[in-house]
Amino acid sequence: MRYEEDENIRTTRPTGESFMSAVSTPIATPAHARATAIFTCILAALAGLMFGLDIGVIAGAQQFIQKDFGISDNTLEWIVSIMMAGAAVGALSAGWLSAHLGRKRSLILGAVLFVAGSVLCGVAWTPGVLIAGRFVLGLAIGIASFTAPLYLAEIAPESIRGAMISLYQLMITIGILVAALSNAALSYTGSWRWMLGIIAIPGALFLLGVAFLPESPRWLMMRNRQSEAEQVLHRLLGSNDAIEREIGEIREQLKTPQRGVHMFFQNANFRRSVGLGVLLQIMQQLTGMNVVMYYAPRIFQGMGYATEAQMWFTVIVDLVNVLATFIAIGLVDKLGRKPILHIGFILMALGLGVVGTMMHLGIHSHGEQIFTVGMLLIFIVGFAMSAGPLIWTLCSEIQPLKGRDFGIGCSTFTNWAANWLVGVSFLSLLNGIGNAATFWLYAAFNVVFIALTIWLVPETKGITLEQIERNLMSGKRLRDIGR
Ligand code: BGC
Repeated sequence: MRYEEDENIRTTRPTGESFMSAVSTPIATPAHARATAIFTCILAALAGLMFGLDIGVIAGAQQFIQKDFGISDNTLEWIVSIMMAGAAVGALSAGWLSAHLGRKRSLILGAVLFVAGSVLCGVAWTPGVLIAGRFVLGLAIGIASFTAPLYLAEIAPESIRGAMISLYQLMITIGILVAALSNAALSYTGSWRWMLGIIAIPGALFLLGVAFLPESPRWLMMRNRQSEAEQVLHRLLGSNDAIEREIGEIREQLKTPQRGVHMFFQNANFRRSVGLGVLLQIMQQLTGMNVVMYYAPRIFQGMGYATEAQMWFTVIVDLVNVLATFIAIGLVDKLGRKPILHIGFILMALGLGVVGTMMHLGIHSHGEQIFTVGMLLIFIVGFAMSAGPLIWTLCSEIQPLKGRDFGIGCSTFTNWAANWLVGVSFLSLLNGIGNAATFWLYAAFNVVFIALTIWLVPETKGITLEQIERNLMSGKRLRDIGR
């Protein structure tokens, strides 16, 4: 749900496109063309599912990997987190790839890497090979997490575009959940190879589906291939009026070239919005969400649960993550971004603070176990209803049009880099300062983020992107650029 859809504004994550199409009256799309478009979008949104599967799968697999290879916590941290480093590299190269190879071929490359990485992980004969496989998966995720939303935004008809982009976001959380379910089912056999390797099957289906996707008309137009763009639009939109208008709009958008790097060095106001995007993504990751995503079974082990129970509690965590995402979808345009972020950070600070305290006091009875799990779920709700989707929304809203690709590229890269840091340090933190202090540390971060939200984050509800850009460029304080 990292998008925003209002009467008069529409923003998307890593696109550089304008929001002009949203202000004009939509032209009705014939039913068959609409069906093709929805099918196309669902296929591209499967990239989100793959993304989620890979995030989710490692949580359940790691204790079996550790036992099998007899490796230290430190090596395990690398197996978990090298994927995020790969994703950072993938996200960095995805801008170039999707501009030069095209969106479709970038997605195909991502899908091939998904399959290759999953197979390599499944057959890994040493921890080193497993690390290499996880890096390949990371590259796939980095490429897909940049290209799929970009492609979706470019290909979905105006009337369903917002819904399709939110579908992509939802697919990520569903992917995490499906991986947890598959892990729970396979945990009785203890086969981590199957847990990791089985993802090659949805990967292969995704590859097959992507092979049938049409290329993005916007990219074809960028390459001066208008007749091919028209053919694709014919399949997607059906009516000649709609095709003509879309071609006109794409041409209009392409008049604003992306000059992000240049602008970054020339314009202090743009540096402020890039800095805010980077900070927002650091905040999202330092909430500690991925500690739970990657290490949930380990956390449940710390609460005294046996292996199978750890797996099923992880499923509950991931289910709550999916469901609470709908709270954000429902509230973002009613309450606004800032109040939701405040509520989210408060819930997260509270949840983690209490989990840390329970771990400090010692969890002895069944009642105490359930209470601690409940507080962890409060944390998950806090994230999924706020920072999860909203940070992405804000990151796409605050960048000026000319620097949007660059600005969003910087914040997306930061998301993965910070994600890596969280993954690579968690077990060392547990072993170094202990369970309770680790959770208190993340709780404290969330308290700081309440203050940072008040101090720096703008409210962008119900204001056009043009107005945000004018405010930013006129030097207004960051927290006021949405007024
Ligand atoms: C974050 C991911 C996280 C996921 C969990 C996303 O918004 O960027 O790092 O794993 O939410 O649902």
